[in-house]
Amino acid sequence: MAEKVMATGTDKDYWASQALPSVLKHKLLGQYIPRFGGMTGSRGRHQVVYLDGYAGEGRYESGDRGSAEIAMQVAAHHLEKNALLWNCFFVEQKPDSVARLDLVAAHYRALGVDARVHHGDVDGVLSEVLQVAEGLPLFLFLDPCGLGLPFDRIVQTLNQRRSTPRRWQPTEFLMNFSMDAVRRLGGNARSARGLERSSERFDEACGGRWWREYFRPDEPAEADVDEIVAAQYAQRLREKTGMFVQSVPVARKPGQKAVYHLVFGTRSEHGLWFLGDAVARARDAWWEGLEIKEEQEDPDTLFSATSVVRPDPQEVTDAAVPAMADNMERILHQQKRPFKLLNHTLDVFGAYYGQVTEPAARKAVKLLHSSGRTASTGVGGKTHELVVQPPR
Ligand SMILES: C[S@@+](CC[C@H](N)C(=O)[O-])C[C@H]1O[C@@H](n2cnc3c(N)ncnc32)[C@H](O)[C@@H]1O
Repeated sequence: MAEKVMATGTDKDYWASQALPSVLKHKLLGQYIPRFGGMTGSRGRHQVVYLDGYAGEGRYESGDRGSAEIAMQVAAHHLEKNALLWNCFFVEQKPDSVARLDLVAAHYRALGVDARVHHGDVDGVLSEVLQVAEGLPLFLFLDPCGLGLPFDRIVQTLNQRRSTPRRWQPTEFLMNFSMDAVRRLGGNARSARGLERSSERFDEACGGRWWREYFRPDEPAEADVDEIVAAQYAQRLREKTGMFVQSVPVARKPGQKAVYHLVFGTRSEHGLWFLGDAVARARDAWWEGLEIKEEQEDPDTLFSATSVVRPDPQEVTDAAVPAMADNMERILHQQKRPFKLLNHTLDVFGAYYGQVTEPAARKAVKLLHSSGRTASTGVGGKTHELVVQPPR
């Protein structure tokens, strides 16, 4: 049911080189999935299952890695270290793309990586993946060009994958929620000449007609209505699955509307913690990508526009640390007992979740200590496991 936003004629451009939104997406994926493997695969059978449901070609003509090759590299690395076996499924609908993808996969298969390429619709392969993944950790990466799997199908899959005391099967997902599709289908719904069939497809993707209330015909659309729909979508996933769900907007340029949100879900506090760190790193890569692009387009410029608007990472951290220390003090006050950072990820980072990397949290504990607001020094151990004690 995936709806094509990317016209066939533009596929070639898409695979020529990585566009800026993909820089963020791939950095996030490349940062996070080794963590997922490390966190979940160290238990039990040392095996994880991975599905890239809209895999594309695996590699750009420029040589940059697409999502599929990123996962294959992670799998190869873990295999080489003898740490973990990844069973990787890659599904792609377009014959040309699947042929290119298979060439990339052949290279990794020769290294021993279990890289299975399927030509077809992701929905047709999902059952097989779920079967293989029974009792094993599973990561789902769903990156359609437009609308993806029906909401109900996603929810059913995630709920069927709950862990029980006898069956430990952590499940996480990263999904592309197309904001271009929201705006286009919203416009379609508001128009007297809009197609009902298109709205019905969006109903399926959203799990109901709820989104239509934001795009009533003949009523002016609210500002940022697309963002409201994205937030609602994440909230509905949260409610239906009981998972932590975080939605990361991705734009082409600073100040522009998001082209999509990357919607992440986990039942694990570790997942939530490390995702925030990976998002901050991926945002940095996005800014760097923008600067490089500007330099390539205008090599004679002394100060790129990007260097003027790019937030200085140090300044962001400098602002984040005292704010996070205040957040920690507030948690202490509410809890009235020591707490572990990992158990309060979103409250600890507050507005800086996904903006700053993990070390900012340790700095905040140290700041809290130096101002006499906690007995914890913030020295030693893993940052996410630091325990913040009340002051003595
Ligand atoms: C945005 S591109 C994928 C990019 C890739 N994930 C990456 O990051 O390198 C989406 C891909 O999904 C494929 N596709 C579209 N509908 C599909 C479906 N129902 N099942 C599998 N693949 C599909 C398209 O042909 C296209 O190659």
